[in-house]
Amino acid sequence: MTRAIPVDDDFDPVPAIARVRAIDVAVVPDVPSGADAVAVLVGASADRADRGDLEAVGFSGELGQRHTIAGSPATILVGTGSGALDLASARDAGASIAGAVPGAVAIAIELGDVGADVAQGLVEGVILARYSWDVLRGTPARTQVESITLMSSSDAVAAGARRGHLKALATAVSRDLANCPPAHLTAVRWAALAERIAPDFGLDVEIRDRDWLLAERCGGIIAVNGGSDEEPRLITLTYTPDESVANGRHVVLVGKGLTYDSGGLAIKPGDVVHAMMKNDMSGGGAVFASMLVLSELQVPAKVTAHIMCTDNMPSGTAMKMGDVITHRDGTTVEVLNTDAEGRLVMADAIVMGTEAEPDAIIDIATLTGACMRALGTDIAGVMGTDQALVDLVRAAGEATSEPVWQLPMGANYRAELDSDVADLKNLGGMNAGASSAAEFLAHFAKDVPWVHIDIAGVAATANPTGWKTRGMSGFGARLLVDVLERFD
Ligand code: BES
Ligand code: MN
Ligand code: ZN
Repeated sequence: MTRAIPVDDDFDPVPAIARVRAIDVAVVPDVPSGADAVAVLVGASADRADRGDLEAVGFSGELGQRHTIAGSPATILVGTGSGALDLASARDAGASIAGAVPGAVAIAIELGDVGADVAQGLVEGVILARYSWDVLRGTPARTQVESITLMSSSDAVAAGARRGHLKALATAVSRDLANCPPAHLTAVRWAALAERIAPDFGLDVEIRDRDWLLAERCGGIIAVNGGSDEEPRLITLTYTPDESVANGRHVVLVGKGLTYDSGGLAIKPGDVVHAMMKNDMSGGGAVFASMLVLSELQVPAKVTAHIMCTDNMPSGTAMKMGDVITHRDGTTVEVLNTDAEGRLVMADAIVMGTEAEPDAIIDIATLTGACMRALGTDIAGVMGTDQALVDLVRAAGEATSEPVWQLPMGANYRAELDSDVADLKNLGGMNAGASSAAEFLAHFAKDVPWVHIDIAGVAATANPTGWKTRGMSGFGARLLVDVLERFD
């Protein structure tokens, strides 16, 4: 095959796996030797007597304040305000510490008496604020942190620090995959990566190729892949909890893995939106990354993940407007816009999900520009057929600072999908495009409790700050882990 960008077979799209796992996260009572920087959490209500010098430089311990004193090690004072830090403010504090000493590789933090959440947040914040995807550049954008030492002798702090390390790993892997250019992360390469690393993370893996997808009547992904020179892949990962923790529940995750979305024959204009479309696999990336930490976190539910991987390209073999697809469950769909491809690949995977009769199906996808129009670039959309499941996702989004907002579903949106020649069309009306897309997916979930997370607006970080670094956000990886931990 002719390739515009030849890529070595051993190219590694996810350096975060090795890099983040190599960070030495330790919890010890005393200042470690060799720390480049020691951060101290300072409350606003602490004794003011020994504060004269600090007040003179404007540091009073208010939440969000920071004061750095050069030295070896450097000292960083971080204000925690009058109350205790929570998970979100601890994550921000961790990012603030990492940002105060951008060259420091060994960071120690004096905690005082705090709980597991604060430890988790600090570790997440430090690691994520130092994230960058440097594989294809001469000089790394940031200095990687090598060790994070929390000064404490509490078991809760040790457990929290470990959780923070794993959750940061999930987000970093999700960012890596979305930052990786399309030639470097084809469906075939992604599947090979999955096959290689799944056993290390206690996961079973099955890779399905084009022949399998065709034979198994996955007409959506076959059609979307039709214009491409690259083969599609379905990556199926399975996590089975240890008997000692298993709660008997089974959740299916479905991720949109469009490694590049040109729009197909309805080709996107050459604008900033099109230029971002290497990240159209962000939902699949979040699913993939979340799966990697379930075993270490001893999540009690069984989880099956289907990641639908292909690009969407225009060519002489591409699907056309007016073509009719037959999906795995027999539903026929008239293609009225080849750029509404996400729902076509998701439909087959959702059907496959229902066949296992799970307790829930959770899908995540960069599905609609309409969702971004409605909610902007900081909040994802959530819609579903089971309000308890929607509420679970909302709670998880709050805990992980990956906020979601529920958008409506309903018969009026469903009616927009009526086709003249098939069971459904893949295009809704002029307005409320996130809701009609959700109605499309709901058709395939049937009576299995189902929730859909539309991350089109949040997959790229529009306003980098703190732990939200430039480039792709990794949104959803920690959220999914949190949902799975809570699923009962
Ligand atoms: N991948 C896009 C959605 C998207 C848009 C993600 C902007 C991130 C930023 C999706 O495949 C798409 O093209 N959706 C169309 C649907 C339309 C043709 C019904 C859209 O939103 O314009
Ligand atoms: Mn599209
Ligand atoms: Zn797309």
